[in-house]
Amino acid sequence: MRRPFISANWKMNKTIGETQAFLNEFLPLVRDVKDADIVIAPPFTSLPAAAALMKGSNVSLSSQDIFYEDKGAYTGEVAPGMLTDAGCTHVIIGHSERRQYFKETDEIINKKVKAALKHNLNVIFCIGESLEEREAGKMFDVLKREVEEGLKDIPSDHIVVAYEPIWAIGTGKTATTEQAQEAHKYIRERLAAIYGGAAANIRILYGGSVTPENIDALMACEDVDGALVGGASLKADSFSKLVKFKR
Ligand code: PGA
Repeated sequence: MRRPFISANWKMNKTIGETQAFLNEFLPLVRDVKDADIVIAPPFTSLPAAAALMKGSNVSLSSQDIFYEDKGAYTGEVAPGMLTDAGCTHVIIGHSERRQYFKETDEIINKKVKAALKHNLNVIFCIGESLEEREAGKMFDVLKREVEEGLKDIPSDHIVVAYEPIWAIGTGKTATTEQAQEAHKYIRERLAAIYGGAAANIRILYGGSVTPENIDALMACEDVDGALVGGASLKADSFSKLVKFKR
């Protein structure tokens, strides 16, 4: 059985004070949830304050990005060791917004995944096709390339894959359960081509306009093992409902 994995991706939202207020409300709401991994990825500036409040809780801390060098002249970047020092156990890598706005390539993403694993960080590795790619019938090619290039020469332990169709992110247009299951099944087949039987143990999350209203149906899909949630993770009430999806 794959343990459910529900992660918040706050993107560029919340000050330190807002992060603290969220956690003071959220942590008691999910204290009794024992059967899921719960992760929150605040912006860099909130990481230490979040780590302090999460200590000893059942919620883990993630960053939203990482750089692949250990230190040096890389103005504006954050090294893997700085993230573990700030209390992170997880890192989101390859989010479509980073691929799109910051020109991250499969090669860069692959370097970042390697650097994260070297520092014992668990990786939430994001992939997904654009609407144009889907409509041009290239969805499977894109997913295959992103999996094969992004995970090249990387062991499968400590990797969680997030399938996020770009057309569903922040648009209110969730993939249907059929679309999600089709993509997840295909991704698992690609993972099996690389990792063999171990692919059955890799969690594949769905992301893209997940809400308390649609999560139960998504989680009921055979190959959907969790969710990566943006908008609906910003309120403690809504994100706690997501964590408590129908088992
Ligand atoms: P959304 O974002 O839930 O706001 O669509 C998901 C994501 O980009 O991780």
